[in-house]
Amino acid sequence: MSPTDAVVAPLGAPVTVARLAAMKAAGEPIACLTAYDFSFAAASERAGVELLLVGDSLGMVIQGYETTLPVTVDDIIYHTRCVRRGVRNVLVVADMPFMSHTAVELGLHNAGRLMKEGGAQMVKLEGGAEQAALVARLSENGIPVCAHLGLKPQRVHKLGGYRVQGRTAAEEQAMEADARALEQAGADLLILECVPAPLAEHLAAVLRMPVVGIGAGGGCDGQILVLHDVLGVTAQPPRFAHDFLSEGSEGGGGTGVVGALQRYVVAVKGRRFPAPQHSF
Ligand code: KIV
Repeated sequence: MSPTDAVVAPLGAPVTVARLAAMKAAGEPIACLTAYDFSFAAASERAGVELLLVGDSLGMVIQGYETTLPVTVDDIIYHTRCVRRGVRNVLVVADMPFMSHTAVELGLHNAGRLMKEGGAQMVKLEGGAEQAALVARLSENGIPVCAHLGLKPQRVHKLGGYRVQGRTAAEEQAMEADARALEQAGADLLILECVPAPLAEHLAAVLRMPVVGIGAGGGCDGQILVLHDVLGVTAQPPRFAHDFLSEGSEGGGGTGVVGALQRYVVAVKGRRFPAPQHSF
């Protein structure tokens, strides 16, 4: 693939925060993926993916660590630059790594680096109401924010494993309170990871901001998966993932990687993914 391959732009116009909000209002599911490099970012745009997250999952799928914790701000900047060069209209979101936003000024500084040096158009951060002051400060400074609730992998050692969150009434109420506080502070988007489908559907219904799920059922305003899970690269994929490459072109779309990504987009748009077996 050469750099000119990146210019095919099926989205027609840039995906913006306003466009995501309009998609939610229109009931059009938002198709999102993670991306870490130029070539797969370009392939994702050709397939019609609207949002690419340069996730700290890169620590596991690119760098080979056991958790996302070792990932640095410089790592995310490097990969965000690679991804940005591959796309024209896709909205690129950069993850704030573990310990990069433990205080408001530190978070503002690091988010600014992701935008200025990496070229990110939005930042994502794990955390609940305790992050509201940072979200407000980012928002005031023109930095769009994607919040992340449910399973927060940066807290894996506190949680004792990668487990579904929001199973009890108390956890449901706490998650809704967190989501409302983050929205009130200015968050533009929310990712819900490993959350029971009824809770995720409820949150998508009561929140103004679009809600994108991963292991959160089909009632969200959009879906996101880790690229390596969609392409069947992951040795032990999570239950909520699906390998769109090995299902072959009989599932629609073209052949190869772009065909697999197209099948993912079409399945999300048609609300055929996630199916009940991918949900909790
Ligand atoms: O880091 C990541 O890739 C993520 C997604 C799984 C949502 O946070």
